[in-house]
Amino acid sequence: MLKRLFLWSYAAMYDRFNASAERAGLREQRRDLIAQATGATIEIGAGTGLNLAHYPPEVTRLALAEPDPYMRERLRRRVSRLGRDAEILDAAADRLPCPDASFDTAVVTFALCSVPDEQAALSEITRVLVPGGRLLFLEHVRSADPRVAAKQDKMPFPYPVIGCHPNRDTLAEIKASPLTVESVREGELPKAPAIERPMIAGTARRLGSA
Ligand SMILES: C[S@@+](CC[C@H](N)C(=O)[O-])C[C@H]1O[C@@H](n2cnc3c(N)ncnc32)[C@H](O)[C@@H]1O
Repeated sequence: MLKRLFLWSYAAMYDRFNASAERAGLREQRRDLIAQATGATIEIGAGTGLNLAHYPPEVTRLALAEPDPYMRERLRRRVSRLGRDAEILDAAADRLPCPDASFDTAVVTFALCSVPDEQAALSEITRVLVPGGRLLFLEHVRSADPRVAAKQDKMPFPYPVIGCHPNRDTLAEIKASPLTVESVREGELPKAPAIERPMIAGTARRLGSA
């Protein structure tokens, strides 16, 4: 009951929590990443839909997977407010209700930190991508500074409650997955606490041709 109340509040406050980071440059980072989406596209862990406004006309179909009902409700409202044509899926990253090879692009932003098992999520993403399809990612990750990484490993409140792991080496996980990293840029999440600041943005491809 308490956890549900907390998750409801997290979803309700999410956009406000993020507003200063979005204003300080995160919005542009989202825009630059999402601009690369083409064709049938699936976003995993879409949250309240902060990427929605950035999908370009080259996206011919948009599916938004989000397992949290409180986030999903806000996502639904944003889809309707923006007049977007998008399917909203009640689905977790490791079990997408989609046929093999059904998307040209997959998107994850600040969601691989939250899935229970990154490899399970990445192999499911690979499954739903067409050969040659691309994953676009933007994630906060483990720090290269051991002092910061030690703090990340402590997982202070509220990270355990919201299910976020700030200590994950997500780039290593993507490299260890069936996807091939094509580009990556390291940066910082603006206006974030030190343990959430290290950030990566990039693309990875499911090799092969359609
Ligand atoms: C920090 S929020 C990021 C939301 C959004 N992607 C963004 O960029 O603002 C993490 C999101 O991942 C979702 N999530 C948690 N576990 C998940 C899972 N197993 N599969 C997919 N998404 C998950 C959460 O519900 C939440 O919406």
